[in-house]
Amino acid sequence: MECEVLIETAPDSVGVDPVVKVTDFAAGRGWSDPTQSSDRAHWCCEQLEEGRILGFEDIPFDFPEADRQFLLQQRQSDTRVHKNISYRPKQDALHGNASERKEDAGRLHGIMRHYSREATEFLARVLAPYAAHWSLDYASFRPQEERGRKLPLHKRNDLLHVDAFPSRPTRGNRILRCFTNINPNQPRIWLTTDQFAELAVRFAREAGLEEIARNGNGRSWLNALKRAMGLKAANRSAYDKFMLRFHDYLKENGRFQGSCRKIQLAFAPQFTWVCFTDSVPHAVISGQFAVEQTFIVPINAMIHPEKSPLRVLERFAGRSLTADAALQPG
Ligand code: SIN
Ligand code: FE
Repeated sequence: MECEVLIETAPDSVGVDPVVKVTDFAAGRGWSDPTQSSDRAHWCCEQLEEGRILGFEDIPFDFPEADRQFLLQQRQSDTRVHKNISYRPKQDALHGNASERKEDAGRLHGIMRHYSREATEFLARVLAPYAAHWSLDYASFRPQEERGRKLPLHKRNDLLHVDAFPSRPTRGNRILRCFTNINPNQPRIWLTTDQFAELAVRFAREAGLEEIARNGNGRSWLNALKRAMGLKAANRSAYDKFMLRFHDYLKENGRFQGSCRKIQLAFAPQFTWVCFTDSVPHAVISGQFAVEQTFIVPINAMIHPEKSPLRVLERFAGRSLTADAALQPG
């Protein structure tokens, strides 16, 4: 199955397909030429670091038909499944499951465990240079139709943004995500736009980079209070604070959302795509039933760390955006 790309080119810009298809890797077989696997994996990492999206037709790892059917039925038979269902591989824990029947909950848990393991093994081969260094984050099942969802502005998925996690600061490490569209009939439609560095040139100052860089590496009074009360508090570096602000700033900026160059990506049924969502701007316009696995990849594992959002922002700010945070206890 395909990924259809529709590029709306603004008069002053050149359209470039952001999706790079990888056609020499398949489920069960791996790389078609094993002698090239190390070069191919290196190339794949470089493509991601350039801000591209790697695309795979058909699901490039084991995902039994019966498991996908079960996930599709979940939504149809249980209208209370409103939220994404998340799976935490490190704890082997499932969250957000609204299923009443215990055996269904057990099955769902087993399916997500298997999916997470398979997606991880797949990426460990395709992105081998990262695999020894990354930290496995959450996986999710997304059973909601995205078109027409009623969500508060900052949570809306249909507005272009780059990802930042409020509860899991990365301190410049990268957010890598692998998605698969398991809808048998409908594509999942994304929009993307100019790359992170271009958005940063246009908007980082207005979004408050300089002030955050000046003040941002210290502890906030709120977090200090939370810690004093024995509560968990995210230890955010200036980088994390800026990326959270930038996420909100882009969603709040109606002029940008309305007038920016848009590239529409239609991810067909069974298509799998992988990108750094902290630097690839994205919005999901429509689609229902996707699964996703997230990894946090250390900036030091990048082949070209200078292309990472942290380094791009540090060049603009003229100072480190993580200096003190790493020294503070979590
Ligand atoms: C997002 O990270 O914005 C969601 C993307 C998706 O669910 O397709
Ligand atoms: Fe996102």
